[in-house]
Amino acid sequence: MFTQLREDISSIIERDPAARNAWEVLTCYPGLHAVVLHRIAHKCWINGLKWLGRFISQLARWFTGIEIHPGATIGRRVFIDHGFGVVIGETAEIGDDCTIYQGVTLGGTSLNKGAKRHPTLGRGVIIGAGAQVLGGFTVGDGAKVGSNAVVVKEVPPGATAVGNPARVVRKEVQDPREQAAARMFAAYGVMPNGDDPLSKALHGLIDQAAAQEHQIEVILAALKSAGIGCQKLEELEKFDPAQLNKLVE
Ligand SMILES: CC(C)(COP(=O)(O)OP(=O)(O)OC[C@H]1O[C@@H](n2cnc3c(N)ncnc32)[C@H](O)[C@@H]1OP(=O)(O)O)[C@@H](O)C(=O)NCCC(=O)NCCS
Repeated sequence: MFTQLREDISSIIERDPAARNAWEVLTCYPGLHAVVLHRIAHKCWINGLKWLGRFISQLARWFTGIEIHPGATIGRRVFIDHGFGVVIGETAEIGDDCTIYQGVTLGGTSLNKGAKRHPTLGRGVIIGAGAQVLGGFTVGDGAKVGSNAVVVKEVPPGATAVGNPARVVRKEVQDPREQAAARMFAAYGVMPNGDDPLSKALHGLIDQAAAQEHQIEVILAALKSAGIGCQKLEELEKFDPAQLNKLVE
């Protein structure tokens, strides 16, 4: 339990630029309180203590303004930021590392008791403030849902969906750098410098320099195998494109 709490706290510090330290997160983050109480309510629910599960969920709602049905399945390091007005339905499933902002509903559109009525979020999904995700479909790993979107059908992994009814504005990312960026958490679903032309130009130059360094290495290897050594060149410090790319981001 404490291991989970520790990882919850550090994941909040990583994801919320306003979080200053662990004590502040532990005492002032209703999303954390709601998730911790949900774990207890969910244990009661799956062990047949249905009323107690509902009651704990109700207490959590009073204290945090976040309503999570005790039957919902919530993964690790799920962060409900601000949280007021969040409603998560009975058959909802939330993958590890998801982030949900205030006013979000993971709701159902059918009254079919016992059926899967609420959405499943894959790993690392971000749901913007006020978004309504309605139905028993899946929002794929790493997808983003814009604030106030109304999502009524599946969202592919890595895609960004906005609007009412939600439409996909950005498909799964293909570029390897964008893929790496998408794996990192982006506060509010927005990548820093994503559209900055200066940052793009610098990344281009670094890539070009890395390609040239590789070509020089190939030429040196060919010269060496032909018996021509270039000892001095081999001793020079290696160029580190990953480090430079990090500085530019
Ligand atoms: C959806 C979101 C993740 C997209 O971020 P992004 O990848 O940087 O995308 P862009 O800003 O380039 O927007 C892409 C397109 O979607 C539109 N768009 C972005 N967010 C939108 C939204 N919430 N509703 C409707 N359209 C939206 C943009 O206008 C743009 O349209 P265009 O291509 O016609 O110009 C982001 O805008 C968002 O809503 N994040 C949630 C933020 C939040 O809830 N914060 C709460 C903090 S308390």
